[in-house]
Amino acid sequence: MRQHYPPINPRFPHFLHGGDYNPDQWPPETVADDMRLMKLAHCNAMTLGIFAWAALEPAEGRFEFGWLDRVMDQLAANGGYAVLATPTAAHPRWLTDKYPSVQRTNRERVRSPHAHRVNFCLTSPVYREKAALITRQLAERYRNHPALLAWHVHNEYGGECYCELCLAAFRDWLKRKYGTLEKLNEAWWTAFWSQTYFDWNEIHPFEGVIHGLHLDWKRFATDQCIACYRNEADILHAVTPGVPVTTNTYWFFVGYDARRWAPHLDVIAWDNYPPYHARPEDWKKAVEMSLMGDFYRGLKGGQPFMLMETSPSSQNWMPVMKLQRPGIHRLKTLQVVAHGADTVQYFQWRAGRGAAEKFHGCVVSHSGHENTRVFRDVADLGTLLEKLDGVIGTTVRPEVAVVYDDENRWAIETVAGPRQQKRDYVPTLVAHYEPFWKRGIPVDVVHADTDFAKAGYKLVIAPMLYMLRPGVAERITAFVEQGGTFVTTYWSGIADENDHTFLGGFPGPLRPLLGMWAEELDVLHDDESVKVLPEPGNALGLAGEYEAEIFCDLIHAESATVLARYGSEFYAGRPALTVNACGKGRAFYVASRNRAAFQDDFYGALSRELGLKPVLDTVLPEGVTVQKRGDGKREFLFFLNFRNDDVTLPLGTARLTNLADGAAVAGSLHLPAHDAVVCERV
Ligand code: GLA
Ligand code: ZN
Repeated sequence: MRQHYPPINPRFPHFLHGGDYNPDQWPPETVADDMRLMKLAHCNAMTLGIFAWAALEPAEGRFEFGWLDRVMDQLAANGGYAVLATPTAAHPRWLTDKYPSVQRTNRERVRSPHAHRVNFCLTSPVYREKAALITRQLAERYRNHPALLAWHVHNEYGGECYCELCLAAFRDWLKRKYGTLEKLNEAWWTAFWSQTYFDWNEIHPFEGVIHGLHLDWKRFATDQCIACYRNEADILHAVTPGVPVTTNTYWFFVGYDARRWAPHLDVIAWDNYPPYHARPEDWKKAVEMSLMGDFYRGLKGGQPFMLMETSPSSQNWMPVMKLQRPGIHRLKTLQVVAHGADTVQYFQWRAGRGAAEKFHGCVVSHSGHENTRVFRDVADLGTLLEKLDGVIGTTVRPEVAVVYDDENRWAIETVAGPRQQKRDYVPTLVAHYEPFWKRGIPVDVVHADTDFAKAGYKLVIAPMLYMLRPGVAERITAFVEQGGTFVTTYWSGIADENDHTFLGGFPGPLRPLLGMWAEELDVLHDDESVKVLPEPGNALGLAGEYEAEIFCDLIHAESATVLARYGSEFYAGRPALTVNACGKGRAFYVASRNRAAFQDDFYGALSRELGLKPVLDTVLPEGVTVQKRGDGKREFLFFLNFRNDDVTLPLGTARLTNLADGAAVAGSLHLPAHDAVVCERV
């Protein structure tokens, strides 16, 4: 298992620190002053030219690179670097005017006007041709430029287009996948409501009740986005081999299947805008953000990623655009570094004067100078990042994995029943992840097709694994047979890759492994709960009285042992938690959605039994976590305090060095409210 990765670009083995920069919007004297300010902010890398297609090619085939040449040269002269963007996320008006087919078409079949950004047809050959042309021009012009460090293709791909070109491409895609309409009709279960297709041209991606169609449309949309990316990335790879190429995404973006992107990207890049506002419950959001960081690190098997965007201050699209409280900037950025970021980049460097996003927090505010709180926050962080060279390329190899799977999520979120608005796939993953975050036990987030045995995990948790694609149950079973511990929940093993339910009892192909079957699934109203009572003397030592909400699966234990039973409702006495031995391992079925106390006790017991190693042997107060990165030789610890008060952590026998000031840390660590401290183990 790999422990160390090369820097994103070996020419610069340091943290990239900088942001989106739009010098085409500013006079030369402002750009000159930006060079001075960048040094003061300890920034070294600017994402240039993003959305600047109109400035780079103001008329078809007429290219104007003068302004970009000057900024690239200025950056190089000032010791800075460019993450050079292709400008294709916002196309110029001449392209729409001359070739209206490049515009995106909505579900009502109306072509959108030239407005906004990411508004192009994902299939349009003209768009692809023009995007390839400007990409080639950029690549050839700057291939040997000393400032060029990485390529940032486009920006946040996504969305869908329903034009005739896209529909035709979708039908071709389906023909390749199914070969015959007969197979397609079968896969989509179209006989219901007489929806059988007799001609490929009858297929439209609007019919939300055909779940197989919905899944295939999402898979197709993923392929289209990747094709648009490859249209540019292939050119960049060919012209500038050795310069890493990527594109950015955000959150758990549901528009495409992230795992399918990963092989096409040299490095994963994502945008993080956490809503931390010094409210007591913020730490809960922090758990979700940590899960996300682990997800992005997992996309390329543990390889560090780029934090391509975050705000150095507030976010203009938030309903309450609250200022970032003191300390939060360092805390939220180091949190992402803790989970695998080798860069800290912002949207954006300098606040624009007009149009969209002019009030989004920026490193350089409308005041135009360095004497601001936000600027100082950025400069302070930059100073610290300069001391973290050792962190570059390091990773973490957790013993625990939580499964996040886009196709599974699509299926869960589309189907009618059993509990609208409360399927809550991501919050459910967060609830199963939180007990580890609280204990400072590292976790990987992986997709369902992972070879869990090969990856060497001790514990794999797959909440709501509704969809089992071919091979998934087999790989989970092999993992358990070889000694792994597997946990799944209600609403798992329900359907295959076409969203056809399994017959013969849920959880379908996982039934032998789990030694139980699920007969009926009850759901509760928001204000209802059901008791869950551990069996006296159960093997995990669970003793509390727990409460389930929203989902209660009514199951039968077959070969499984019952560890807890429902304590109320007409199903009082029926199993609520089971475990089944299989080969050298065990598989647990958690039949209900349980409140936090159960999660804490259940995963606490499993952690003890499995001897899962926390980053540090200490008890962490609520709202504090410690995460780590290392390479087998060196180990870096990230202490993150999301509480509104100071804490002092006992460190046991650990001996550390605080990388901010080189001070030795032993005995205990004082961690002020909203602070983050990076230490190296000595
Ligand atoms: C996104 C985009 C940026 C900018 C920021 C801030 O992540 O990629 O261009 O719009 O949000 O809102
Ligand atoms: Zn289209």
